[in-house]
Amino acid sequence: MDCIRIRGGQPLQGTVAIDGAKNAALPLMAASLLTDQPVTLTRYPQLGDTRSMADLLRRLGVEATTPDMCAGTMGLVTPSVTSTTADYDLVRRMRASVLVLGPLLARSGHAEISLPGGCAIGTRPIDLHLRALTELGASIELEGGYVRARASRGGLRGGRVRFAQVSVGATENTLMAAVLARGETRIENAAREPEVTDLARCLLAMGAHIEGLGTGTLHVQGDTVFRPASHRILGDRIEAGSYAAGALITGGYLRLAGAPADAMTATLDVLRSIGAGVEISAGDVVVNGSGTLAAADVETGVYPAFPTDMQAQIMAVLCLAGGRSRIVENIFENRFMHVSELVRMGARIKVRGRTAEIDGVQRLLAAPVMATDLRASLSLVLGALAAEGESVIRRVYHLDRGYSRLETKLRAVGAIVRRTSEDGST
Ligand code: EPZ
Repeated sequence: MDCIRIRGGQPLQGTVAIDGAKNAALPLMAASLLTDQPVTLTRYPQLGDTRSMADLLRRLGVEATTPDMCAGTMGLVTPSVTSTTADYDLVRRMRASVLVLGPLLARSGHAEISLPGGCAIGTRPIDLHLRALTELGASIELEGGYVRARASRGGLRGGRVRFAQVSVGATENTLMAAVLARGETRIENAAREPEVTDLARCLLAMGAHIEGLGTGTLHVQGDTVFRPASHRILGDRIEAGSYAAGALITGGYLRLAGAPADAMTATLDVLRSIGAGVEISAGDVVVNGSGTLAAADVETGVYPAFPTDMQAQIMAVLCLAGGRSRIVENIFENRFMHVSELVRMGARIKVRGRTAEIDGVQRLLAAPVMATDLRASLSLVLGALAAEGESVIRRVYHLDRGYSRLETKLRAVGAIVRRTSEDGST
């Protein structure tokens, strides 16, 4: 297995091009199952997760091609659905595979999806997805670790869905099912994440009728007659926030080209409170990390609150901030896996339930560390970028799921970073 070796102490300086958002690309790709009309996605990010999604979709009958990788274009067309099963080996690898459930049910009237199982950050059930689809007339059975969903004879029917808890994926599955259901659907307590709105925008371009974008209540008129559509994927606010944290932790200065500033308000506010200078200029976000790092209290929450996907990264920065910081993780029950590895680099962090207390230290020290999940692995990269000496980060396949060309982008702004195999050979 590969690992990444980073010699810390270099301020990151220069420009980083921000890719299309992983968490927008995945539902957008699944949406192509809804229709036999072509869907063209631009600013498509080449990631482990998007490759897994493309593999799954091809097994279901989608023709997924990347005609022009330089322009980051992904073409998707589903002349007919040839399978309605997403099996365990795929779903286990990538939980977002569950996003084919709504489109398959809507297009074909049935779907068999392996239950995703838990992952490093929590049990991550899909009960909210299933309950919502039942409101649209689906009958759901759980058998042998699989969800077997079937629409009534006439297909899904519009209905009223009210989520007891905000869920990004469940909102996306329901939205995609509703555009093909017969009649109107009202979705209440819907997730407002920018990636959900990006999916709705693409569905509108495909011919759907949806109102309430960006709010907690979506009105969907069903029975969509689809047309060919092209959609530019929203910039990745988490990738951008991750590099912004890199500028801060190394005392550097980065221009994040194409960062979606409007979708990052809470993140930029937290970065400013820790000491970053942040400017929005010409569609880019410019982060000046040369100031002194100050302690901060941060709570994660559903959009527009501070995103859970930035929690591990901000924790790495706060390890070097003067004073005591607190982070409360309100979304996932086990998203502090990076703490023990940061402590191995000299950080002083105590976890009590959903709260982590971080007492800033003068310096972090290089160490061999191990990534456990996507965002935790980026927090270790950040720690290594600031630490004295060379750190080795193992299990970097976690990183490859959500960050494209990480070493290339980091090297281009001054980091001393290389990818090797475990035994050190490149
Ligand atoms: C999406 O996951 C993102 N993934 C996650 O990003 C992100 O952390 C999360 O939203 C929260 O913003 C993609 O978009 C592919 P949820 P999702 O349903 O949809 C519980 C990353 O690092 N829940 O909003 O799975 C759940 O356990 C990834 O890029 C239920 O209880 O998140 C969690 O505690 C990690 N029942 C909370 O709700 C359900 O049926 C929020 O989950 C569904 C969710």
